[in-house]
Amino acid sequence: MNRRDFIKKTMQTTAAVVGTAALSRVAVAAKEREKQKMKILVLTGSPRKNGNSNTLADSFIKGATEAGHEVVRFDSAFKNVHPCIACNSCGMDGPCVFKDDFEFVRDNIVTADAVVFATPMYYFGISAQLKAVIDRFYAINGKIHRPKKAMLLMTYANTAASQAKPIESHYKVLLDYLGWQDAGQVIASGVWQAGAVNGTPYVEQAYKLGKSL
Ligand SMILES: Cc1cc2nc3c(=O)[nH]c(=O)nc-3n(C[C@H](O)[C@H](O)[C@H](O)COP(=O)(O)O)c2cc1C
Repeated sequence: MNRRDFIKKTMQTTAAVVGTAALSRVAVAAKEREKQKMKILVLTGSPRKNGNSNTLADSFIKGATEAGHEVVRFDSAFKNVHPCIACNSCGMDGPCVFKDDFEFVRDNIVTADAVVFATPMYYFGISAQLKAVIDRFYAINGKIHRPKKAMLLMTYANTAASQAKPIESHYKVLLDYLGWQDAGQVIASGVWQAGAVNGTPYVEQAYKLGKSL
């Protein structure tokens, strides 16, 4: 082989090796992304469609969707979810006597990698609409003690951080019980009217939380 052919051959081989390595890096990166893609169930609790907690939920979902995650949303206040009546027919891990919209939560929460609770503060607690959904976890209790991430988006009118404590501690105890891990919280104080949260840093915080997953 003359010198010219030798150089040509060497360059072709190098290009092929580099090309293969680059291709496999792309394949690995794609696989990694696919592996990290999460299913996120967002449970909202406000009856105000354009209210503050729904705005935070929208922003979170935008970020999470842009990050490539699958998001499913359940707007409790616009669904038919009967409160638990403690009949114990489910035995904490079986069919519920009520065949209502909770079926959607049942179908999606078990396979979700992360669950988001987006709620207004109502008398220092989670809204009744969202609480009714959480109480119905009773019927799937045996299926949801699995590692999951969880997040809290909460809005309230007062500005005292101490008044957020009951919801924060409810959320924490619930997670400890279920074995879920807190992945972030946005606690928006001082927002009363629907839309008051717009223009505050909380909206961006919710977006970044979704994007960071
Ligand atoms: C029934 C009810 C109870 C409320 N209780 C509280 C409360 O205990 N503390 C507080 O700071 N704000 C309270 N608020 C105000 C809401 O938490 C606040 O307006 C919140 O931003 C509403 O969120 P949303 O727009 O997502 O519905 C209450 C509002 C309603 C309608």
